[in-house]
Amino acid sequence: MHTQVASRRKLAYVRMSLLPLFLFLLPLTILVTGCEKGLNGKWAASGRTLDNGEKQLSILELKQSGSDLTGTFKTLGYSVDVKGTATGNHFELFRSQEEKKPFLAGDLVNGELHGVLGNHHAFVAKPATSDDHLPEVTYIAPPPLQNVSYNGLAKTPPMGWNSWNLFAGKIDDQTVRAIADAMVSSGMRDAGYIYVNIDDTWEGVRDANGNLQPNHKFPDMKALADYVHSKGLKLGIYSSPGPRTCAGYPGSYGHEEQDAKTFASWGIDYLKYDWCSAGMIYKDEQMQPVYQKMGAALQSTGRPIVFSLCQYGLDAVEKWGGQVGGNLWRTTGDIRDEWSSMIGNVEKQVPTAPYAGPGHWNDPDMLEIGNGHMSDDEYRTHMSLWALTAAPLLAGNDVRSMTAATKAILLNKEVIAVDQDPLGRQASPVKNGDLELWTKPLADGGVAVGEVNYSASAMKATINAGDLHLKGPVRKARDLWSHKDVKFTKGSYSAMVPPHGVLMLKVSAK
Ligand code: GLA
Repeated sequence: MHTQVASRRKLAYVRMSLLPLFLFLLPLTILVTGCEKGLNGKWAASGRTLDNGEKQLSILELKQSGSDLTGTFKTLGYSVDVKGTATGNHFELFRSQEEKKPFLAGDLVNGELHGVLGNHHAFVAKPATSDDHLPEVTYIAPPPLQNVSYNGLAKTPPMGWNSWNLFAGKIDDQTVRAIADAMVSSGMRDAGYIYVNIDDTWEGVRDANGNLQPNHKFPDMKALADYVHSKGLKLGIYSSPGPRTCAGYPGSYGHEEQDAKTFASWGIDYLKYDWCSAGMIYKDEQMQPVYQKMGAALQSTGRPIVFSLCQYGLDAVEKWGGQVGGNLWRTTGDIRDEWSSMIGNVEKQVPTAPYAGPGHWNDPDMLEIGNGHMSDDEYRTHMSLWALTAAPLLAGNDVRSMTAATKAILLNKEVIAVDQDPLGRQASPVKNGDLELWTKPLADGGVAVGEVNYSASAMKATINAGDLHLKGPVRKARDLWSHKDVKFTKGSYSAMVPPHGVLMLKVSAK
């Protein structure tokens, strides 16, 4: 008994005498554990809530060994392995050795990761909790290659309107109906602009049977299609071969046939199919069979649906886009409403010219005409170049409120006729200092020409009949912007062209 009490007292004494040491060591222990944690562990970054109610979430799982970092980055649509380095609190992560700029870079600040994802997305992550959970995406091997036969559509480049350039995520049923009305009242429909295309952010979630529903912005897609059809127009929609679209909504990955059937049942006439998160699952060389899967699925619905590939011109799409059932394919990244972007896109697709023709077109992206950041001269050049290169004419502006100048550009029937010429040839350019001459042979033996002034001052442009490969001397020449016949004298015609403007003629020997 006595010994028991004595030993308890001794223990209490030891505890008491160790307390100051413990209190002294505690902060040190926290400091050391903190250092050991470093960037190690699971980090969760929650993003915005999508229009379909889903919350965007990314989970970064990292292992740090000295300055070396390895791990995985997962979002709703994909998972990717990352490797990189830590220097003090700063970290940089890459998806492959070839990547020049970090995929994700930032700093550890007060127990949180603060950085930039991709080129410009802000990334803030906290230590993940058990609530931070993402569904697994399993790999689905693409089908063996086969040819999808031509659907007989888009004999001339598709014309219409698309929601993305101006409305982006702010598109809904009411706006699409109002746009359809305006396509009729403005004369756009009668000029040939038939397709009214809903781009990204219409998607809801899948029901218990896996059927993709529209979100609350599009309460009844079939009724919307009926409305658009009643106006003599056609309705287009958007999806991705990946699990997620570029705006983060559900894509058609693993549901290709089901989605094609759904689109057909709604009365959809056009599908833009955007690579987006498929790039995290498949290699560029797998694009052909991946696109073929949807091409075949659309075909087996029996409904004529224009198939528009959007994979930014990767893997020489112009060489196989037609074989997967594609009617058009993007050749470039996204257009912006500025001169350098517009010109950059059309120049980028120059090497694809031999692959354009009835049923299958190169697509330098949608029009920006009327969106307000280029001059009217620049927009006239935009329209002329899209027509000369037989590009799809998909207006990207608010057709409910067009200025007279915008209307005159988009509704220029003589320029539209060049785009829609049944021969379907894509113009190629010849550069001469600040001037560039684009020539497009036409079905009636004539030639459409556009001389573009790249400089910041007005320049005299001369078009020489000898450069046009006509079968005889010039009999008729017409300025397609002034809507006047003009005269070639001694085999040439000259006119002043404003900065970033164009002289566009149709010339024939008949
Ligand atoms: C990509 C496409 C755009 C548009 C957006 C939608 O960036 O290239 O044309 O469809 O996705 O998210």
